[in-house]
Amino acid sequence: MIKVFTDIEELSNFAAEKFVAVGNDAIEKRRQFFVALSGGSTPKSLYRLLSDEKFKNKIDWHKVFFFFGDERSVSLDDKESNFRMANENIFQPLQISDSNVFPWRVELKDEEAIARDYQKTIESCFRASPRFDLILLGMGADGHTASLFPETSALSESEKLTAANWVEKLNDFRLTMTFPLINNARSIIFLVSGAEKAKTVKEVLRGRYQPEKFPAQSVKPENGSLIWLLDEKAAQFLG
Ligand code: 6PG
Repeated sequence: MIKVFTDIEELSNFAAEKFVAVGNDAIEKRRQFFVALSGGSTPKSLYRLLSDEKFKNKIDWHKVFFFFGDERSVSLDDKESNFRMANENIFQPLQISDSNVFPWRVELKDEEAIARDYQKTIESCFRASPRFDLILLGMGADGHTASLFPETSALSESEKLTAANWVEKLNDFRLTMTFPLINNARSIIFLVSGAEKAKTVKEVLRGRYQPEKFPAQSVKPENGSLIWLLDEKAAQFLG
């Protein structure tokens, strides 16, 4: 499903309603809500909204468990850290307990070790195969999602749930959940805004299937829902 909004504020408000609805459904059925947050800048307004008067009392935060779809290979207090952005906009404002938040353990330094450790952490939180109630994703102008960048090795990972992905163009490793984990989610929501992504949005949603070039095309939950939330600028070439 694709929904187009006037601007990022309207998009974020809808996303916050969805977050709370999916979360409360999970809590009602399974007493817990497991969510993987996306990084970058797009979700910031959603995270701020969740900790705002309008939404902060709409879900029992003690039953929400936060993971990260990907992370940069930097310390958690680095301005590039996805954890730091969520910490400033959700965890601190809502006083979320540390025991409800599962950052990538970047202090282990070796990226492969960090990825293996995170897989163990995820597996220890689920009785059966790890199935997130909700995974939030963004998309870069190059079609990457999480840290699954075009032409990178993690795209073909079919067993592991996490990967330390070397990204040539960044000249750095990125830590990321893999498609087997992402596509096992009950619900996936993409948040994409901005004119600079419009061409890629059209390629990903209307173009030929070229997942090596547009990794976001590989996001297809086997037994779950997928919603694309776009602002008008990002959706301008969809017709
Ligand atoms: C990250 C994200 C990444 C992000 C896209 C879009 O670590 O950067 O997880 O996948 O969602 O790069 O980023 P923006 O929202 O900043 O455009």
